[in-house]
Amino acid sequence: YFSAEAEQPLKGKKIIITAGPTREKADPVRFFSNSSTGKMGYALAAAARNMGADVTLVSGPVSLAPPQGVETVQVESAEDMYRETVNRFAEADIVIKSAAVADYRPRLVSDEKMKKQDGDLVIEFERTKDILKELGERKEHQILVGFAAETHHVEEYALKKLEKKNLDMIVANNVNQDGAGFGTDTNIVTIYKRSGEKMELPVMSKEEVSKNILREIIRLDKGV
Ligand code: CTP
Ligand code: CA
Repeated sequence: YFSAEAEQPLKGKKIIITAGPTREKADPVRFFSNSSTGKMGYALAAAARNMGADVTLVSGPVSLAPPQGVETVQVESAEDMYRETVNRFAEADIVIKSAAVADYRPRLVSDEKMKKQDGDLVIEFERTKDILKELGERKEHQILVGFAAETHHVEEYALKKLEKKNLDMIVANNVNQDGAGFGTDTNIVTIYKRSGEKMELPVMSKEEVSKNILREIIRLDKGV
């Protein structure tokens, strides 16, 4: 006996997943970025696909192969990621924002390669748009899931983000912990839900973390 519902619990659901870092250009050959490798987001995309979802992966620059059977949209800057994500939001059922989006970008982008000068250089930065906060303001039927990468006061900051960005769930990880954070194949996360429910998961592969996150999203969707 084969139960389609059990094998493909996300069948018919449109999921947008963002992954990787963003790059914020300073000149044609230089940019500001962060240590995200995209592993968590790519693992989520593959797991959601395996559960039958229709997955769009909006990815910053990473060195991972695009997962089979997933629509992958390559972006570079926070502004690109904002556009590609917000434009698809109305049709989505679930959005998971695992990307490490730059909070700042150089205020001025030089068309020509900057030449070095004697003495030090000061670069002025301006804020990028907060994509997740914007989605939280536009949210209707969608389930919205964020990540919080912290080095301290993990729970306090994660709960603040859950509230401020109008999320249904936030996945927090302490990126200073061994076996968690950027570049590792494993992660140690705690899931906080809007309902106040808290789930602390032990160290496990990013594939297993993904299945746990998606299982909790399915429970939210069913209201159980
Ligand atoms: N995020 C986003 N757009 C931004 C910054 C962050 O969509 N410009 C999303 C991230 O993808 C993540 C969540 O917001 O899902 C939290 O990101 P994080 O960097 O932990 O929090 P910030 O709100 O940026 O606050 P801070 O960096 O000061 O901790
Ligand atoms: Ca940030």
